Amino acid sequence: MRKSLIRPLIEGLKPYVPGEQVIVPGLVRLNTNENPYPPAPAVLDTVKAAVDGRLRRYPNPTADALRVKLAALHGCKKENILVGTGSDEVLELAVRAYVDALTDGADRSGCTVQYFTPSYSLYPVLAEMSGVVKNEVPLLPDFDIPSVEKLKADGVWDFNAALTFVTTPNAPTGQGYTTAALEKLCAAQKGVILLDEAYADFAEENAMSLAAKYPNVLVARTFSKAYCLCFQRVGYCVGSEELVGAMHKIRGSYNVNGLGQIAAEATLEHLDYYRANFERIKKTRSQTLEWLAGHGFRTRPSQTNFIFVKPPKVAAKRWYELYKEQNVLVRWWAQPDVTEYLRISIGSEEEMTRFREVTEAILAKI
Ligand SMILES: Cc1ncc(COP(=O)(O)O)c(C=O)c1O
Repeated sequence: MRKSLIRPLIEGLKPYVPGEQVIVPGLVRLNTNENPYPPAPAVLDTVKAAVDGRLRRYPNPTADALRVKLAALHGCKKENILVGTGSDEVLELAVRAYVDALTDGADRSGCTVQYFTPSYSLYPVLAEMSGVVKNEVPLLPDFDIPSVEKLKADGVWDFNAALTFVTTPNAPTGQGYTTAALEKLCAAQKGVILLDEAYADFAEENAMSLAAKYPNVLVARTFSKAYCLCFQRVGYCVGSEELVGAMHKIRGSYNVNGLGQIAAEATLEHLDYYRANFERIKKTRSQTLEWLAGHGFRTRPSQTNFIFVKPPKVAAKRWYELYKEQNVLVRWWAQPDVTEYLRISIGSEEEMTRFREVTEAILAKI
């Protein structure tokens, strides 16, 4: 008999580490890539009006009304769409639906989850908790994706991997990838490839068209970042009926909460409000990058609502601590490939003014 009540796989698992949440008055939270602006007023009104006796009822099990609206937005059928409890659930369902657990004699590629590093730090956790093989392949030194020719020549990339995740634009680097480069990869990949477009609304282009063109491609999106609904946990993916249908079979019966469905539906009625905020965030992003470059930071272009920068004079870890002492939270990782960088979410104009003041004060004392 097994010694522990817990599966050995889970006992040894290092869980995903979310951005820290500290409750301090006046805290500037630039560590979780949340939208600094509130949801559209009409969305808040719609959600408030829905808080009534219907809370005792189960929500629509398939988020049907929302899927119909999303299908109209993306020019597909509702059968091409799965809605999840945030796009995190969509990613988890993908591992469960397409990747075999590693057992003796199993085909290794059929048991493989593959992704570039650095990218979204949830992917290794999803692979580890499912007992599948991880194939981590480094991005190029400038954080771009290697070409298909280079991946073939290097021989580490598995073109038959059951599931490949590509964060596009990437996190934590903020780097955008061209649809042309992604299409070459999708065309060469035999297994499922999920393009994780959590930040696509802040980018110059997106690869949604590939979900309709390739039967092995899924594109995941979220209402969290661009659409100010982190609290409600609504994400989705678009892809072939075959791939999406498999996820529907295994998702929780009522996986998307009712108020989340209502909030997301209302959001789709007010896209102009959100699009204006994307422009504001992109403008603050360019101003912040320019300012930081003028103050000794090594900056990189960003196509997301965060920036990824190398701070001057002292280590990035020290900068993270110094910011925290001044009630500014940014993100830093101990991972060797990104340890010299800080990831800083783009806040409101006021928050970024405070961020610049704190940065100047730190620069004056180090
Ligand atoms: C690349 C990427 N994908 C997906 C997610 C998940 O977002 P959510 O579950 O809120 O939709 C995140 C959140 O940080 C992310 O950075």
